[in-house]
Amino acid sequence: MRIAPSIIAADWSRCYEELERAKGGDFIHVDVMDGHFVPNLTLGPDITSAIHTRTGKPLDIHLMLQHPDKYISRFFLEGVFRITFHYESSSLLRPTIHHIKEAGLKVGLAISPDTPVKRLLKIVEEVDQILVMTVYPGFSGQRMLTWVLPKIGELVQIRRSLDLSFTITVDGGVKPTNLHLLEGADEVVMGSAFFKAGRL
Ligand code: DX5
Ligand code: ZN
Repeated sequence: MRIAPSIIAADWSRCYEELERAKGGDFIHVDVMDGHFVPNLTLGPDITSAIHTRTGKPLDIHLMLQHPDKYISRFFLEGVFRITFHYESSSLLRPTIHHIKEAGLKVGLAISPDTPVKRLLKIVEEVDQILVMTVYPGFSGQRMLTWVLPKIGELVQIRRSLDLSFTITVDGGVKPTNLHLLEGADEVVMGSAFFKAGRL
């Protein structure tokens, strides 16, 4: 199982140190929030670029934007290997997916806790990843909503029955002590549990 530190959970008053620590992950997860789709604001393309410059790690962009399509090309940056946007956003799914693919990047679709997996059936074959949110998007440091976890098994089954190969990622409240609940996931995002580990 690959682990991606979620950089918004870093202590930005010690950013050099924290970026060094983030190098310990397989890649870095970058949460981009607009204050509309979610009630929080985070970082944009300039900081995203700087994160790659400093760490050299591949970057996975998680857009929590009401209109992702308006901003996607701003994240066609060196180091970015995948852009994930929300099924619940206002952008049209297929054109947005194609926009990302045309840039030669992998594309992911995220689903918030209340969105059932069956909604993805018509679109799942077009994407490289499904990001299962196990918290309501917006903030690091929330508790995992374990009632969402059956979605992992449902996705594994869909992937098998349709003979697809998309990646299943879990994001929200993941920590070493609940990893055993995430069987079937290929990747996990870890924010506060990653950056708070071992800190005085
Ligand atoms: C929540 C973000 C998550 C979050 C993860 O909206 O998408 O990536 O930063 O942080 P933890 O692991 O602390 O829940
Ligand atoms: Zn995220």
